[in-house]
Amino acid sequence: MAIASHFSRLCKNYPTLRLCSRHLALTPARLGFRARSTLAAPSTGGLGRAGSTLSQAIPSQVPSATAATAAEPTPRIVGWWLLGCSASVFAMVVVGGITRLTRSGLSMTDWQPQGKAMPRGEDEWEVEFERYKQFPEYQRLYAGTGMTLDDFKNIFFWEWTHRMAGRAIGLIFGVPLAAFAVFGKIPRSLAPTLCGLLLLGGSQGLVGWWMVKSGLEQDKIDEIADGVPRVSPYRLATHLTCAFTLFTILLHTALGVLQPRADATAAPLRQVHGRMRLLATLVGVTAVSGAFVAGMQAGLAFNTFPLMEGQIIPRGYMELEPLYRNFFESVPSVQLHHRALALTTLASVTAFWASVQRTPLPAQLRLATDALLVVAWSQVGLGVATLLNAVPVHLGSAHQAGALTLFSLVLFTLHSCRVPHAGRLLARISTK
Ligand code: HEM
Repeated sequence: MAIASHFSRLCKNYPTLRLCSRHLALTPARLGFRARSTLAAPSTGGLGRAGSTLSQAIPSQVPSATAATAAEPTPRIVGWWLLGCSASVFAMVVVGGITRLTRSGLSMTDWQPQGKAMPRGEDEWEVEFERYKQFPEYQRLYAGTGMTLDDFKNIFFWEWTHRMAGRAIGLIFGVPLAAFAVFGKIPRSLAPTLCGLLLLGGSQGLVGWWMVKSGLEQDKIDEIADGVPRVSPYRLATHLTCAFTLFTILLHTALGVLQPRADATAAPLRQVHGRMRLLATLVGVTAVSGAFVAGMQAGLAFNTFPLMEGQIIPRGYMELEPLYRNFFESVPSVQLHHRALALTTLASVTAFWASVQRTPLPAQLRLATDALLVVAWSQVGLGVATLLNAVPVHLGSAHQAGALTLFSLVLFTLHSCRVPHAGRLLARISTK
């Protein structure tokens, strides 16, 4: 009742919202603004403390939500296309993880922007295998172990698939982009973001080759303490961070098109939004620290939890010089930091979830916070299982996919904190 009367008061004050609500037959329940019934504080009519400030807060927010940006509605098809692109980048990251975990990443020893066909016939395969034999990975790991042409074909398959999938995503993004541009479906406000995505996506291929090259060069491999060839952890982290950035921009833009929201957050949700931003930073930093665990192959050591071979602070922690190298190049340090960051993320997500239980939230935001809690616990469970089993391919790639899923939920939660953009909703209705 309190929510209904509050909503009609809002509609009275803001004609655009009134118009919108009539067109969409919006009710507070349809908007999903409800408290968790068993937990809502009854003293303030079901809205709790947040509810009592809602009526003072929203009037100052709604004008920006209904502002004159009604003119430039983006067709929903553009939003679905961007969502499809973000799903393709997700799949691409998983294939990249499998490529690394199966030790396939150094099997293709050259790179051309247009890519190349899979070798046809045994002769072409033999040529490719002979080329691979000239590089440090084969010489140090496989020479004299009886590696067969079929073994080589297996690892080549994953690297080839990863590279060709990257080019396919270029087409999935670029061709519809050109078509939408020709047919005038891209509003001017969206153009810089899409151009930025095109540049970032294109340069990701170059970053990938820059990373692979570091694992092919003899002098770089000679610098590795245990002598086991791998790519530079810095370059691997850069490649993964670029992929996360691409995914973030695609998903954020897609959500903004499919469900337009204003930049404003209603005052009762401002605190929730602020805390979510901190959580987003924490999840991002934890993911980047994970990239260094992967890059250093640090998951093959200290395969015990919660202690690291009986100690909280493992042997060798922070022993490299200069100090900064420990954050990126020391197996014990990199692993301890990732554990600490992951557990801090888990504690923060759990505390955040507990703290919003007495706050009335829109249904979508409530769903997002619940899902965030479940995925954060699952991700930590997967991380521990990955570590205890010394990084088998299935657990390693599930853990990587889990990190992206967690990040997607963080983005969705942040998006759900913002007020629906009544102006753009209205524009959409009027263009129907
Ligand atoms: C919020 C929780 C966590 C997040 C967001 C996260 C994220 C990540 C990411 C992004 C990677 C890099 C994956 C790759 O490039 O393939 C990674 C690797 C790794 N993480 Fe986590 N992680 C979390 C929790 C944990 C926990 C609790 C543990 C164990 C105690 C753990 C152990 C590992 C290991 C062993 C790797 C290396 C796997 C490999 O070599 O592929 N993670 N993590």
